Order: sequence, then structure tokens, then C-alpha cells
Amino acid sequence: MSLRFAAPAGITVRLGPDDLVDGLRAAVVAGLSSTPKTLPAVYLYDARGSELFDQITRVAEYYPTRAERQILGTYSADIAAASQAEVLAELGSGTCEKSRILIRALIDEASLTTYVPFDVSEGTLRDAAGAIVEEFPDLAVHGIVGDFRVDLDAIPAGRRRMIAFLGCTIGNCTPGERADFLAGVVDVMNPGDSLLLGVDLVKDPDRLVAAYDDASGVTAEFNKNVLVMLNRELGADFAIDRFDHVAHWDPVNEWIEMRLKSRGAQTVRVTALGLSVEFADGEELRTEISAKFRVERVRDELVDAGLEMVGWWTDAAGDCALSLGMRR
Ligand code: SAH
Ligand code: TRP
Repeated sequence: MSLRFAAPAGITVRLGPDDLVDGLRAAVVAGLSSTPKTLPAVYLYDARGSELFDQITRVAEYYPTRAERQILGTYSADIAAASQAEVLAELGSGTCEKSRILIRALIDEASLTTYVPFDVSEGTLRDAAGAIVEEFPDLAVHGIVGDFRVDLDAIPAGRRRMIAFLGCTIGNCTPGERADFLAGVVDVMNPGDSLLLGVDLVKDPDRLVAAYDDASGVTAEFNKNVLVMLNRELGADFAIDRFDHVAHWDPVNEWIEMRLKSRGAQTVRVTALGLSVEFADGEELRTEISAKFRVERVRDELVDAGLEMVGWWTDAAGDCALSLGMRR
């Protein structure tokens, strides 16, 4: 019997706690004084938010996690063969739960040497990186705590890198943000590198709305947690139970909009910003969008960014897809 001791995961921290709070102040001033009011989605994922998202992935109505796991379970060898990646960098990696399937296939098919989980949520990243090290002792694991809108240059160099962006997280960007994001990704890619992108597909609006407004109320709690965070970080006095979670399907933009709807007229103070914010009865604050896709749009957006779409895989029910874009 041989005992192997894995090297601990190296972690690069690009995002200090102050960076997030500084960004938060500016974003909250801008978002709460615009019409309609908005809050930036990155702040949904504090420690509690990350825990709640993990619960969302297991509620009956939220199909994307199961669909993506099925696609990976069925096609990960094909994906690995098409990419031949030696480095896998995963943006918004969260708990890395599904990543294991891809890592295993890339080790078997393409001699993967390095895994780079990348997330804004430091605690989640450290736990997940540690678990991957234990499970794959021969793999070099290098985590990055950062914002994938600005810190992509932290991804280490390597031959044939695959950048994976799973969990339908690209849907949380507006079309303009998406174009900027994809341009930024392509900017750090070399010829032969690939982008594995997970998207949720347009489908029956009732199923879409249910996925973002589950009966057990986990998604509602996740959405309202952003108010808890503002109370804690900026000394705000949001009365959490005076806001209702709303998931609204926008058929023109083909996205779900997450909102928090004011019960009655109310004034909220944000002490750290010296701000007083009026909410009218029924006024809605937008916290997140989740865009749904068709294959044509994904192909067009990849091509516009400078990538060739060389793969497209869906689950058996056709709910979600993974696309593979190559930099030539
Ligand atoms: N990939 C996982 C998690 C998806 S949830 C899955 O498929 O289940 C989205 C993840 O992206 C969270 O872990 C969140 O912390 C992270 N995230 C959100 N915005 C981010 C940003 N701007 N930069 C880096 N990570 C971000
Ligand atoms: N990337 C996930 C998605 O769009 C994030 C998510 C799931 C989410 N449920 C949510 C974001 C509810 C805000 C509110 O499916």
C-alpha cells in the first residue's frame, strides 16, 4: 500500500474584503437612486447566499443543475476529446460539485494537469478547492478569489486551457455585459484554448418561473438575503418581511427577472451612505436576471466574440445546453 500526500491548493486572492465593500457602496448608491431600482447580483453570494444557492440546486423545481449534471455525465468524454485541455479554469465554480465529472474525463482523455477554480466567494472557494485536492491528489489545484468581470488575467498560463462557465451563470449578465464578458474571456485565450459555456434554454414559462420561485421558498430567501447583507454591511434598515420575492418572465428579452416588491410604502435608511430611499407601495427592486437561450443566439454571440462553436450538447429533455467554443 502506498500513501500519497496531496499538495495543498494554492490560492490567489485578487479581491480583498475592502474591494467588495467599496464596490458595494458605489453600486448601491447608483442602483437605489435609478428607476427602476436595481442591485448588482454579485452581492447575492455572501457566505449565507452561497449556502442558499447550494440548497437551490437541490429543490425540485430548479432543473438546471440536474440537467447540466446529466449532460456532463453523458458527454464529458466527448467534451474532453474535443478540447484536449491540460488546464481547466472554472469561473463561478461555487462548490465544484459538477466539476468533478469534467475533471475526471479530462484526466482520462486529455492529461489534465491543473484545475483552477475561480469564485468571488472566498470561503466557498477554499472549501471546494480543498475537497478537489483530496479527491484528485495528482492534480495541481490553484484557486483564484476574484471577480470574473475584471480578474481573468489571473488565470495561469498553460497549454490548451479550457475555461468553463457552468450553472447558466452567463444568463445573469445583460446582453451588453455578456458581450463585454465574452470579449474579456477571448482576450486571455490563446489559439487552441476553449470555452465551455452552460446555458438554460427557452421553454414553457410556467416551468421557468417555478424554477425561480420554488414552493419551499429557498429562492425567495436567497433573493431577500441581499437585503440582510445591506443591513449588515452598510447599516441599512430594510424590514426583510416587508418585501416579497417575485420571479417575472419577460417574453421579449427572454429572461427571468428576480425582483423584491415593497409591501406598502416605506422609507429605508442606509446609514453608511447617508442615504434615505423611498419605496412606493408595490414598487419593485430588480436584483437579478437569468437569460434563457436558443442555439442560434449562443452561436452568434460566440462568433461575435471570435470563437468557433465546435460542440453543442443538451440533456435528454432539451432543458439546458453546453456549448464549446474554440479560439483558432
Ligand atoms: N458553477 C456552480 C455555481 C453557480 S452559482 C454551479 O453550476 O452550480 C454562481 C457562482 O458564481 C457562485 O458561486 C458565485 O459566488 C459566483 N459569482 C457570481 N458573480 C461572480 C463574479 N462577478 N466573479 C466571480 N464569481 C462570481
Ligand atoms: N445562475 C443561476 C441561474 O440563473 C443563479 C440563480 C438561480 C439565481 N436562482 C436564482 C439568481 C435566484 C438569483 C435568484 O439559474
